[in-house]
Amino acid sequence: MKRQVLLLKRRVIIDTDPGIDDALALIFAIHSPELQIEGITIAPGNVKSEIGATNVLRVLDIVGNTAIPVFYGAKAPLFRKLIPATRIHGEDGLGDCGWPTTKRSVMEQSGVDYLIEQVKSSPKELTLICLGPLTNLALAIAKDPDAIALFKEIVIMGGAARVAGNVSPVAEFNFWSDPEAAHQVLEWSKVPLVVIGLDVTRQTLLTPLHLKFLKHQGTPLSDWLVKLTLHYLNIHWELNGIVGCTLNDPLAVLAAFMPELLTFQDYSVDVATDGLCRGQMVVDYTELWGKRRNARLATDVNVDAFLEEFLVRILKDDSVTVDMVHAYLQASELPRT
Ligand code: BDR
Ligand code: CA
Repeated sequence: MKRQVLLLKRRVIIDTDPGIDDALALIFAIHSPELQIEGITIAPGNVKSEIGATNVLRVLDIVGNTAIPVFYGAKAPLFRKLIPATRIHGEDGLGDCGWPTTKRSVMEQSGVDYLIEQVKSSPKELTLICLGPLTNLALAIAKDPDAIALFKEIVIMGGAARVAGNVSPVAEFNFWSDPEAAHQVLEWSKVPLVVIGLDVTRQTLLTPLHLKFLKHQGTPLSDWLVKLTLHYLNIHWELNGIVGCTLNDPLAVLAAFMPELLTFQDYSVDVATDGLCRGQMVVDYTELWGKRRNARLATDVNVDAFLEEFLVRILKDDSVTVDMVHAYLQASELPRT
């Protein structure tokens, strides 16, 4: 008799700006049985909100999910003009690789109102995962701070603490894109804020070997994943001389359901909003400010374990197991078929 394992799912809302690594993160999340995605809100970031919304629907179409509702959030950062990251993610945000277009559209309700309404109806039960600039979250806090305090946890991909930034020497894109929003969220911090910055995501490189593994599966989904990721891989080489692309947003998703694969430390954290250091995450390592520790910062990650989980889950193919991926990656060679 088959044994039934009862899995208590973690209910999450994802705020995202796809974006290639956002798209990978969404598929990773959708294919992770530990998570139940209640809804997706669109942040202005890598691309304009209209493009981001279309991309989320394109991703949902590819994985055959028509159940998750998608909501527009803000159209621009709080006080600034949006500067999209099309060089990194392509003009269409999905690597210009010809992903099919969608016929579906987003819900009418505003994403900010959706966040407030949902968390009020399920107090301390929902986790929010933010994969883009924090504009929507900052707006929701401004509108109803008590409601947003009812989130169980908020996982944020953003910041660079002890490593260089990726848009300036000190700033990471999501915090740089809307620094006032990041500052406001950290200053508010009424909910445990889990911050996944470049310090850890830069360790998680998807390399040509991993792409070879995906290509080897030869399914329609694995073919699209390879096409999607090639642009991202090439741009890492062109701009940074790195053979491999960083899985920023997928790592933030992992932190929501397998935090044991990361190491965390609580600190008092803030974000610089202007001038030379715009968007820089400042961590008070030595407690000179004497302020409350408002963020749980990821300081290390078990890279191999994460990559194995990522590759297995993203494919959603029962014949592919973690042990199999592990063996392939250790051998650095794929079996001949
Ligand atoms: C972050 O910026 C975006 O370009 C990525 O999608 C990720 O969320 C990394 O700095
Ligand atoms: Ca993103």
